[in-house]
Amino acid sequence: MARGSLDETLNHLWLADLGFVKMNFMRICARRSEEIRRLLNGYINVVENKKIGQNEPGANLSVREVSWNILLIKQSNFRQSFLLTSHFLFLFRRLNMDFIDLRSDTVTKPTPEMREAMAEAEVGDDVYMDDPTVNQLQEKAAEMLGKEDALFVPSGTMGNLLALLVHCQRGDEVIVGDKSHIYLNEAGGMSALGGIHPRPVKNQADGTLALEDILAAIQSEDVHHTITRLICLENTQNVCGGVVLSAEYTQAVGKIARENNLSLHIDGARIFNAAAVLGISVKELVEPADSVMFCLSKGLVAPVGSMLVGTKKFINRARHLRKMLGGGMRQAGVLAAAGLISLEKMSTRLGQDHARAKSLFEGLKQVQGLRLDAGPTSSNMVYFDLLDEVKLSVDQIIEEMKKRGVLVDWAGPRRFRLVTHYWVDDAGVSKTLKAFAEVLG
Ligand SMILES: Cc1ncc(COP(=O)(O)O)c(C=O)c1O
Repeated sequence: MARGSLDETLNHLWLADLGFVKMNFMRICARRSEEIRRLLNGYINVVENKKIGQNEPGANLSVREVSWNILLIKQSNFRQSFLLTSHFLFLFRRLNMDFIDLRSDTVTKPTPEMREAMAEAEVGDDVYMDDPTVNQLQEKAAEMLGKEDALFVPSGTMGNLLALLVHCQRGDEVIVGDKSHIYLNEAGGMSALGGIHPRPVKNQADGTLALEDILAAIQSEDVHHTITRLICLENTQNVCGGVVLSAEYTQAVGKIARENNLSLHIDGARIFNAAAVLGISVKELVEPADSVMFCLSKGLVAPVGSMLVGTKKFINRARHLRKMLGGGMRQAGVLAAAGLISLEKMSTRLGQDHARAKSLFEGLKQVQGLRLDAGPTSSNMVYFDLLDEVKLSVDQIIEEMKKRGVLVDWAGPRRFRLVTHYWVDDAGVSKTLKAFAEVLG
């Protein structure tokens, strides 16, 4: 029996006491969303199968976290207290999590299944390539993306940096979008650590780099010029609105790269979101790319980690550089175990996040004082600006939303970005729309 499993928990508790717990669970769940209620019902059924009495609770429940998977539950006029393990803790966490957090999909916490897999993971020293769970994750990632090999890295930023360091020498030039994460938000790592020169090309509103702009940015052979080595695309393109680049467009850029003896790297932090929108496999979408980085720690819900994929030779060199940058993680199987669930289960449910982003988009169109970005949002992001008529500042709006249990973040002096993810359900969308209507109404 799995450690911390529900059955084990039940075996360790006084059955009569569980009747009391059940009643309280029911009370709490009645106030919460449909999804939580459904989850909770699963647990209550298990309790009922054990034929537990219906003790009516008489006073307040107090809950204290003893450790990461143990809760101490007390009722003030009740003699017993209860120790509940991971599954119940998860439920309490969800029930007590009043905030709807739309600041990013990076805020996603691991699911109970992930926590259990992490606790049970077989591990070894990954610097010796001895960690079976990391090895399994890398094999799975390489297979899903249709590349020879893969490397587990601590962050998307490190994955992108490693790709640039492997593809380029000092003084080489990289064509990047002027709104790309690599160019804007990775602390200039390519220049600071690799001596690599970025050549920014305008990101169009649809997230693409115009093919003629890419061609024009490739340096001709001249003693005065840097040497162009690499083109980077970002899919989905975050700052342009979480928009999706098509497989046809990616093929066209791949063709330019091949014809000019360049490599193509995709910052695919959210490539699984892109593939879900397009209704194709990630493998098909990234076929022309020499290397791809994607994040497990965003919409795929894992707590930590990203993957870099490419040829065996490319990954061998990236592994060496990862060590140089201090990214060799030893018993990283505890993290990879969550990543496997990301690939196996979370990658297939992203359509739900996209549908909720669409609901947010449609609902926010009805709120006065906002100008939504043109066109329906493509994946899990909704961007909008405040009209001049709105006298509140973004900081004041953030504060007012927080008071109403919704966390949002700014994306500019008068601009917001909301991101849907696993922990935002339909009730969360409604709560957000209601809060915006109140704050701006
Ligand atoms: C498009 C894109 N690429 C790369 C990254 C970097 O990922 P990490 O935060 O894991 O370094 C992010 C992070 O938000 C991102 O949005």
